[in-house]
Amino acid sequence: MEKYLNKKSSQDKILRTAYFIILNVFKKNISTRKSKALKALKYSTLSGSDKAKCNDLVQKALRFTLFLDPLINERKKGRIRVELLCLLRLALTDILVRGVKQETVLKKYSEFAVSFERTKHSRDQLRYYIHLGFSDWKKNALQPLFLFEKKLLEVLVGQYTLESVKRIEKIFSKPSYVDLYIRNRAKRGKYFEQFKGTSSNPSHFRFSQNVSLMKTKGYSSGEWWVQSLSASLPVKLAPIDFNEKYVLDVCCAPGGKSFQLADQGAILTAIDKSKKRLNLMKENLDRLKYDLDLICMDVFEYKPKKMFDIILLDPPCTATGTLGKNPDLQFLNPLEKLEDLLDTQKNMLERCSGWLADNGVIIYSVCSLQKEEGEYQINRFLKKHHRFSLVNPKEGCHLYKDGFEIQKDRGIRIMPFFEESIGGTEGFYFAYLQLKGHGK
Ligand SMILES: C[S@@+](CC[C@H](N)C(=O)[O-])C[C@H]1O[C@@H](n2cnc3c(N)ncnc32)[C@H](O)[C@@H]1O
Repeated sequence: MEKYLNKKSSQDKILRTAYFIILNVFKKNISTRKSKALKALKYSTLSGSDKAKCNDLVQKALRFTLFLDPLINERKKGRIRVELLCLLRLALTDILVRGVKQETVLKKYSEFAVSFERTKHSRDQLRYYIHLGFSDWKKNALQPLFLFEKKLLEVLVGQYTLESVKRIEKIFSKPSYVDLYIRNRAKRGKYFEQFKGTSSNPSHFRFSQNVSLMKTKGYSSGEWWVQSLSASLPVKLAPIDFNEKYVLDVCCAPGGKSFQLADQGAILTAIDKSKKRLNLMKENLDRLKYDLDLICMDVFEYKPKKMFDIILLDPPCTATGTLGKNPDLQFLNPLEKLEDLLDTQKNMLERCSGWLADNGVIIYSVCSLQKEEGEYQINRFLKKHHRFSLVNPKEGCHLYKDGFEIQKDRGIRIMPFFEESIGGTEGFYFAYLQLKGHGK
């Protein structure tokens, strides 16, 4: 009995937390990451496995929201309050996506609805939808899909082909994965044999399901760090020898690219204004043991004492390339933030370009699908700064793969369907901008 109660309360806690995280997205414009840090939500009091279950439910509900909402709207009886709508999204996700039995969902969600004053009078409506609606939806064996929000869809269709956008939606519909960057070349082969998952190149390994990273071999000895395949490409494919070079990593936290640079022998200064994100980076540095100069400062206040051979700039962006993993972002008005972000990116580029030694290279990268933050930003910079020109990435088999595009005067575009056979990747953009020396 006690075991049953514990189990029950743990399930209640998961549903309650998931519900408020989703409600915060739609009602208060708060990201899932920020919600989890809110004391009132008590996310931190969930056990490790309950956190994983809660995240899975939240992620799936948000990933498929725009697919699920029309199913609810079709059967709509009057206005649905946002509280009920969020609860229905979770219930539908449980039934249609996670395969939970309809009766279990009905019981669990009805009990939950009465336990909260604001959703109390919604209980009958909830029963109506679960009873009448879900059974025939299930019978039709619907395959849930990630769909882009209308305004974002319009922008993307204007910048890519409709076929490409549909392919991105298909990739973003797939389950999450975790990518590791494996650092020690000598042992890389061994890692791939030991772990269950896939690898697309020598330093990359992908777990196709959630695993306990802290219990994964090589964690405490610092053999790897978590970094998505696409995020590792700007450094991995740079046509540059980093060894013994003075390198500045601007906007470095939580540090994946800094670790790659340090791994290749760079004399590295890394700067970020977020103390919280830098603390996360320091936790990783404790086990990776790279030697680098870490500075917590706004880049617009930073005044370097020397010029750098290489500057990596990974500025804040809309992060729409990561929607497969962070599906909440498209409900938090990414397009409204675009203008400010474009300004910040432009000003950071201008500032950094003054700190580069002759023949030095700026590596610019963003995890955005919008060309304004990538191709157009760099094209504008090149038109203004004639001493800079684009250089190509290292030669390699990636150059011939679907979803990897080197664009003349516009840099490199990684589409989420790059490496589709292993589940694709995040949308990304990067460019190598070389400063010609005087007299050249
Ligand atoms: C895309 S993330 C960087 C990811 C990082 N390069 C990596 O590979 O892990 C952008 C970062 O920019 C930082 N940032 C934003 N505005 C900044 C500013 N004015 N000065 C310094 N850092 C800033 C944010 O704190 C955030 O950590």
